[in-house]
Amino acid sequence: MYLCHGLHCGSQLAEVQQHFLHALAAADLHATVEVRLSNCLGRCERGPNAIIQPGRVVYCQLNGTAINRIVHEHLLTNTPIVELRDE
Ligand code: FES
Repeated sequence: MYLCHGLHCGSQLAEVQQHFLHALAAADLHATVEVRLSNCLGRCERGPNAIIQPGRVVYCQLNGTAINRIVHEHLLTNTPIVELRDE
């Protein structure tokens, strides 16, 4: 997975990254899911944003609830969350 660290999203990166790392550890995925940084994803007005690979699934307006769902639903079951993903 990639977390946007562009100019806009970067201001919230530390909080988002910490939340993902905590949720990944809680789901026992910390050793299998790599968290990397990306450049701007072109959706600055809807940040903070992340992209999940494979599949290039983009999630915007990340918050604690969304991050927990992404980890426990998308990453654990490999099923993108339709209502949260950005087109
Ligand atoms: S800075 Fe994150 S989408 Fe542009």
